[in-house]
Amino acid sequence: MQVSKLAQSLHGSEIIKIAGEINELKKKGEQIANLTIGDFDPNIFPIPDGLKELIVSAYHQNQTNYPPADGVLALRESVSGFLKSRLGLDYGTNEIIISGGSRPLIYAIFLTLVDEGDKVIFPAPSWNNNHYCDLLEADAIIVPTKPENNFMPTAKEIRPHVKGAAMLSLCSPLNPTGTMFSKEALEQICDLVIEENKTRGEDEKPLYILYDQIYSQLTFGGHEHFNPVSLRPELKDYVVFVDGGSKCFAATGVRVGWGFGPAAIINYMKAVIGHMGAWSPKAEQVAMAQYLKTDDVNVYLGNFKQRMKTSLDTLYKGFISLKEKGFAVDAIEPMGAIYLTLKVDYAGKTTPEGKLLETSADINFYLIKEAKVALVPFSAFGTDDKVNWFRASLGASTAQEIEGMIPKIEAALVKLK
Ligand SMILES: Cc1ncc(COP(=O)(O)O)c(C=O)c1O
Repeated sequence: MQVSKLAQSLHGSEIIKIAGEINELKKKGEQIANLTIGDFDPNIFPIPDGLKELIVSAYHQNQTNYPPADGVLALRESVSGFLKSRLGLDYGTNEIIISGGSRPLIYAIFLTLVDEGDKVIFPAPSWNNNHYCDLLEADAIIVPTKPENNFMPTAKEIRPHVKGAAMLSLCSPLNPTGTMFSKEALEQICDLVIEENKTRGEDEKPLYILYDQIYSQLTFGGHEHFNPVSLRPELKDYVVFVDGGSKCFAATGVRVGWGFGPAAIINYMKAVIGHMGAWSPKAEQVAMAQYLKTDDVNVYLGNFKQRMKTSLDTLYKGFISLKEKGFAVDAIEPMGAIYLTLKVDYAGKTTPEGKLLETSADINFYLIKEAKVALVPFSAFGTDDKVNWFRASLGASTAQEIEGMIPKIEAALVKLK
């Protein structure tokens, strides 16, 4: 079939291929622990009751017509207050835009700031930047990261690429790793951007930062979330934030995202989102506007974070215990989001059926078949397929189910020769 060059250039999601494999096994009656999708099982992690009631009540009040193109004013006011009280950020209602979840924001930021052929810098592993670069025919500059830096990019790794680049796309806590920028690491990157922008003329596009902090409310232990504008206020004109309620309220299907940044950029994004019709449903906006102002936010987040941390810690400790027993596995301490970074270093080993495991995808499919546990290799997030690190996403399993996975993984690994 003849379709556009753009349509032909898009790559399908590797996670969907893994889901296909899982579904095949499920059809055969197998029970697979699915740690692949960055989503929640609403029966395990439901949205806040208070939010649910407010959504229903907004429909009863007939809040069903088009919302304003930049979002319902009451929600932009609530988001402004939320950002101030939780992160100390000062953004007025004309610097905030609402969209149908945060994905349209990311696309709108790319469309607003990046031209065809422009350099966009982002780390690997990271989430979906490659697809947005494909959509725009931008020049994707992929910065490989290291386990010793928790797979977060460093200023040193980014520095060789900043000359002339249009955008630096960062995310913390990071999907897929569940790790975060330290204050110092992010400060160094901010200083690099400030330094680069000083070299650009008045009529040149500056180097912008897309800062995705959709997981900022889901941080654990002593790990604090940092953002470029609080650390370096002079960057305020150059940073556009991606944020929203999808992850912190386990509300991925509710579709309320908020972005914020310089008013002029937000205004352009408003036109882009308007043309896509990618608004958040009005009733959900009205409900979120009220919910963000309630004390229930703290109660809900406290409980949600504690349960998510228990799940993450259970899998983390399970992997560390396997490592201590001498298995070639590892894990990075969970810091934020709903993800855990796991190493299963079994490339070059052979299965009982005599199949050589060459790539991280081979290892993953072996674990699916033998241990009935499905992870996502970092190669789905832009790394080389020889990188034997994986993402485990814990929104769709109970802590009990997770505990049961460790002996199955151990039994599967023992069989490899
Ligand atoms: C880092 C990151 N940003 C944005 C999104 C998109 O979230 P939404 O469901 O609000 O579109 C996701 C979803 O997985 C994500 O992981």
